Amino acid sequence: MTDPFGRTVDYLRISVTDRCNERCLYCMPEGYKGWAQRPDHLTAAELVSIATAASSLGFRKFRLTGGEPLLRPDLVSIAAGIAALPTTSSLGLSTNGTRLASAARDLGNAGVTSVNVSLDALDPDTYHRITGGRLADALAGIHAAITADFESVKLNVVLMRGVNETQLAPLVRFAAEHRTPVRFIELMPLTRTDVLSSDNFLSCEAARSLIEAELGPLLPLPEYRAGHGPARYARAQNGALVGFIGALTTPDFCASCNKLRLTSDGKLRPCLGRHGEIDLLAPLRAGQADLETLLTEAIANKPQDHTFQQDYIPSRPMTAIGG
Ligand code: 5AD
Ligand code: SF4
Repeated sequence: MTDPFGRTVDYLRISVTDRCNERCLYCMPEGYKGWAQRPDHLTAAELVSIATAASSLGFRKFRLTGGEPLLRPDLVSIAAGIAALPTTSSLGLSTNGTRLASAARDLGNAGVTSVNVSLDALDPDTYHRITGGRLADALAGIHAAITADFESVKLNVVLMRGVNETQLAPLVRFAAEHRTPVRFIELMPLTRTDVLSSDNFLSCEAARSLIEAELGPLLPLPEYRAGHGPARYARAQNGALVGFIGALTTPDFCASCNKLRLTSDGKLRPCLGRHGEIDLLAPLRAGQADLETLLTEAIANKPQDHTFQQDYIPSRPMTAIGG
């Protein structure tokens, strides 16, 4: 399927829950109470039926996100249902890693091909300050993922000035030691406003300079694309593959956007940085959903770009939309 701007849309990111066992500064407002009611969460069967409709429109790439997807007890069966679709060429999982250690192997057996784990710091106190969680749990999950033989395991770091800027070079060293790409992500305005002050914003360019000051020049790899996302990659002197996701500072960031998002309460979201959503839940439960038509409508409504630069006001935090 092609959108009005000529972009092929064949990637569906599915948020399986808006709940999380961590409280990342950039994702979840403190005291957040906007949880979807449990009955609003799509069931495994509903999720797989939406993925099936997407598959019949030619979607090939799927990713399970949240919130924290591993909080869903039926995650393995959701993964198996999507992996079994005839068009599925990749099935990713985005997780904070803290519950991955015991689940990695089952997820791999169910057909998950790639795992992205958030790792915003290697210093336990800094990690706790950002996420509210325990670094050791995330590291155990990362090690389990690496030994479980996924096609790819990547690390995601959200950049925050004054919070984790000292952690960037250590994270690149960690990436080299473990042979996992690390991606640095510009903070997007999807959380509470005190976190989003411009003092906290650290651009990819500034992050690159900080890394180069400690580890030497990064060699840009303009042609290299890992996965299906918008990251631009470089090679560090120590061998690490370092990606930059500059949603706010990269011109043309949206030009190759290939995805739709499905929120855990059953809304199709054509763009992370725009409020428009198409409801699937009500028609699904009324037994009269023409899912292919609704997916086609969402693609037809994909905006050209996000409005993060124009004082976008987050109406729902990242945990509700799906990271
Ligand atoms: N800005 C940028 N990235 C974010 N993520 C969550 N919230 C934000 C935000 N406000 C990223 C985290 C996580 C992924 C699922 O989404 O890095 O790895
Ligand atoms: Fe949880 Fe991920 Fe949001 Fe952190 S970024 S609070 S780990 S959903």
